[in-house]
Amino acid sequence: MTKKITVKDLTAEEKLRLICADGFWYTVDFGGKIPRACVSDGPVGLRAEREENGKKTTLPAVSYPSVQSLANTWSRECARRTGEALADDCKERGVDILLAPGVNIKRNPLNGRNFEYFSEDPYLAGTLAYEYIDGLQSRNVGACLKHFCCNNLEYNRFHLSSEVDERTLREIYYKPFEIACAAKPVAVMSSYNRINGTYGSEYQKGYDVLRDEFGFDGAIYSDWDAVRDRTAACKAGLDIEFPFNGKNYEKLVADYKAGKLSDEELDACAARVLELGYRCEEMRRDRTVRLTTEERIEVAKKTAEESIVLLKNDGILPLKRGTKACVCGCYGKPDAGMVAGGGSSMVEWLGKGFSIPDLLSERLGTETSYEVAFYWGTVVGHGAYGCNPEISGDQAARADVCVVCAGTGAQFEYESADRLTMKLPAVQERAICELAAINPNVVVVLFAGSAIDMSGWIDRVKGVVFAGFCGEYGGEAVADVLCGAVNPSGKLSETFANSFEDYPSAHTYGNMNVVCYEEGLNVGYRYFDRNPAGVRFPFGFGLSYSEFAYSALEIQPKDGGAEISYTVENLSLRDGKEVSQVYVRECNPLVYRPVKELKGFSKDAVKSGKKVRVRVRLDFNAFAHWSVSEDRWKAADGVYEILVGASAADIRLAAKLEISDGKLTVL
Ligand code: BGC
Repeated sequence: MTKKITVKDLTAEEKLRLICADGFWYTVDFGGKIPRACVSDGPVGLRAEREENGKKTTLPAVSYPSVQSLANTWSRECARRTGEALADDCKERGVDILLAPGVNIKRNPLNGRNFEYFSEDPYLAGTLAYEYIDGLQSRNVGACLKHFCCNNLEYNRFHLSSEVDERTLREIYYKPFEIACAAKPVAVMSSYNRINGTYGSEYQKGYDVLRDEFGFDGAIYSDWDAVRDRTAACKAGLDIEFPFNGKNYEKLVADYKAGKLSDEELDACAARVLELGYRCEEMRRDRTVRLTTEERIEVAKKTAEESIVLLKNDGILPLKRGTKACVCGCYGKPDAGMVAGGGSSMVEWLGKGFSIPDLLSERLGTETSYEVAFYWGTVVGHGAYGCNPEISGDQAARADVCVVCAGTGAQFEYESADRLTMKLPAVQERAICELAAINPNVVVVLFAGSAIDMSGWIDRVKGVVFAGFCGEYGGEAVADVLCGAVNPSGKLSETFANSFEDYPSAHTYGNMNVVCYEEGLNVGYRYFDRNPAGVRFPFGFGLSYSEFAYSALEIQPKDGGAEISYTVENLSLRDGKEVSQVYVRECNPLVYRPVKELKGFSKDAVKSGKKVRVRVRLDFNAFAHWSVSEDRWKAADGVYEILVGASAADIRLAAKLEISDGKLTVL
């Protein structure tokens, strides 16, 4: 390595140039004088764009299940492995930093990018993001955590102001960033929107929290084209503007010359961009690709297996060998856009995808028929094409079971716009109902990236499998779950309410420049715990082909916090996996608190007829809330309950402890 250059070695002109990117995906290197960083999109695969002779192409890459699906695994191991595998994808393409993961909270089910985010719960989102980042960076590729902060809708995303009180920011919207920052991501990307009136690219107050309180020591990027005023952004501590914007740059230079930007302010950003380049140079020393493409595909398949959530099963699943199935719906033989969301995260497939009818034929040992029945369809009330399904009915009537492959896809869920409805396109709802009238044994497989309102058809079908946006390699996992080779173990990382109107944020959605987060802390199950009537499927819910019993809860004070242990027993004849969840409730709080909050979870393989002893650590902060009057985290003295459940609405075990003068005693 040549001598490390510091800001002192650069002219003011160089520093001004350094804090603005080089084109779309690079930082500047002054002809090799300093190391540069190459960045590319994630999070569900590498979307590397290359330009040759003025023509842009996207390089094909392994497509992993969407982040929503990853979260539905509730598996730290899947998140870590996905990060590790992605590192190899990046290394092969010379990418230093992956623009991922995003940890924005799912406040509203219509947010067009929900498929790119983990959860409605900050602990689950932050914990899995931590593993993903640590997996990626342990293999010497950097992560860029995004979008800081409160980017919870796509509507009017360049201007919308998210108006949020300080306590809610701390406990809900900052929290996943706080947890994920412990993995030391090399970068954080700011958001497009405004936060309480201030643009994400000028959000000094939040940047100070990141740097001074969360220990973030990397560089802060703008989101693409998000900077309005480069000078104001630099003053706030936004280190690099992406992509290069000539006008902004000229204005920055003029402002500097006019004395509107100090050398200290410029140097602070320039130093961090330099540091990032050197960090990338250091990481580039290890370009060893550890997993073959086939092994990475295996990671994607395994994640898909663990992510599938069995939502309804009136005894119809798993399908027995010899069952004559009829697959209906274009999602049975999807193209890339049908099992992934659209926008900057969309991955170019390596191969041709999958065919559910073929995969079922192999597993069931009989010929599975296929009827397209409907194409993507249009959203309720929009356009007219494809509104009536075309169902011949013969094959569906003759079959033992009708597997309807339905969903959304990139046409409905994409960056820069929100969904218009939580329902499936009308043509698909009609197809499900018509098929259910022809054949009483209908199983619906949903390929979607966010919560679906199923009220129009769910009572007419016997089974519902939420396959998520499973990506190119998810088909086998779906077929294996349907036929029982894989025992479903995914659980919902967000509440599926009956309808959009049941969400607390529904009435704050409109034609707007400002969105008031009136519900405060009551996001997701924190709201539905007090309003259970609106819930179709609760947070943390997912069926299995096994049945699990919970027993013997114990609490042990440990290192200032507590170790929670309990037994999970598999009562069935099949091996399975159970996601158990640990919630904390303050019994008589003196400030408003949600009924309970997730503070730990575990996913354990439990063999048929066997038991495992699960241990979950809670640190002292698990009991704390953000005290507005004291401007700090505070675990108030009082009694707390530890609730262990199979979902937010299915608590199996409870025990109490007391905190007094900062000391924890089991009651
Ligand atoms: C998205 C980011 C993405 C960037 C680069 C933006 O539009 O919001 O998430 O990383 O583009 O493609």
